[in-house]
Amino acid sequence: MKNYQITVLKGDGIGPEIVDQAIKVLDRTAQKHGFAVNYDCQLLGGAAIDATGVPLPQATVDSCKAADSVLLGAVGGPKWDSQPGNNRPEKGLLGIRQALGLYANLRPAVIFGPLRDASPLKPEIIGDSLDIMVVRELTGGIYFGDRGTEEVNGVKSAYDTERYSVQEIERIARVAFDMAQKRDRRLCSVDKANVLDSSRLWRATVDRLAPEYPEVAVSHLYVDNCAMQLVRDPAQFDVILTSNMFGDILSDEASMISGSIGMLASASLGSGGLGLYEPIHGSAPDIAGQDAANPLATILSVAMMLRYSLDQPQAAKDIEAAVAKALDQARTRDIATKETGVRLVGCQEMGDIVAGLI
Ligand code: IPM
Ligand code: MG
Repeated sequence: MKNYQITVLKGDGIGPEIVDQAIKVLDRTAQKHGFAVNYDCQLLGGAAIDATGVPLPQATVDSCKAADSVLLGAVGGPKWDSQPGNNRPEKGLLGIRQALGLYANLRPAVIFGPLRDASPLKPEIIGDSLDIMVVRELTGGIYFGDRGTEEVNGVKSAYDTERYSVQEIERIARVAFDMAQKRDRRLCSVDKANVLDSSRLWRATVDRLAPEYPEVAVSHLYVDNCAMQLVRDPAQFDVILTSNMFGDILSDEASMISGSIGMLASASLGSGGLGLYEPIHGSAPDIAGQDAANPLATILSVAMMLRYSLDQPQAAKDIEAAVAKALDQARTRDIATKETGVRLVGCQEMGDIVAGLI
């Protein structure tokens, strides 16, 4: 029997609750499809600071490197706000992405039929379906550039630098081109080339690669225009390719179109087979421990793991189908509805329902 080794990083806030539900669903899926999963739980973020003093202990990095795949909840919370910038929980998340070389972040924004009423957009704007894949560069740009705080003549200033090399742009662009080729073959590269040198290099690099992918229709948008187009006419997008920071912002926006940020999964991939899977939302400290969180983004992240890292595409489809069915009968608070026959449930019960539908 195939046996997969998964490192689990539950993290902070609602992280442990949502990851527990995702594990429940993965175990059920493994049982059905005849494979086994071993879990190694390690610390990341605030939980790691509390236990070891640092947000990314070496043991966590070692365990991830030895695993077939990594499942992550969320990190951060007000408890660690007073930590210095280089020892915040978020630094652990950025550190693990970097340590594992996970430069490609795939963030699908899809709308599940039963959730159309949860989207803040009018039905005529959503159209028949919404299926956007945001491909976000994840280990470069302003998140990892030169930074500092200094005082000159008694005046304090701080700076962060956006820098991209041709190689960094090429490798993420190729991920997006390949993705577009497997989908609707439309690629929109998003930058701020009317202002930034790094964006002009980004755009020129994407254009230089384009002839290698003749079936893909390439377009470019400035990020401000893209933010507007996403709510004006989201159906125009298939694959969106963008930098680390623009991708962070645009993926939150795209997620809301789909009804709730509690629904969106993500995969972070490098050049090896190892991937890290996490919901795109944060640790929601305000509702942590209340059994009120929506575990579906984490459960859908497990589906992405089965597809992209573990080569179990049918198991991935089963989970996605179970989530769609679960939404017909039950909703967590963030996607609640007044429809009759649809119950308001907590995090655990939602996990039970999805697992039961597999
Ligand atoms: C995300 C998050 C992280 C990011 C934070 C927590 C560092 O917002 O994954 O989108 O900005 O990448
Ligand atoms: Mg974000």
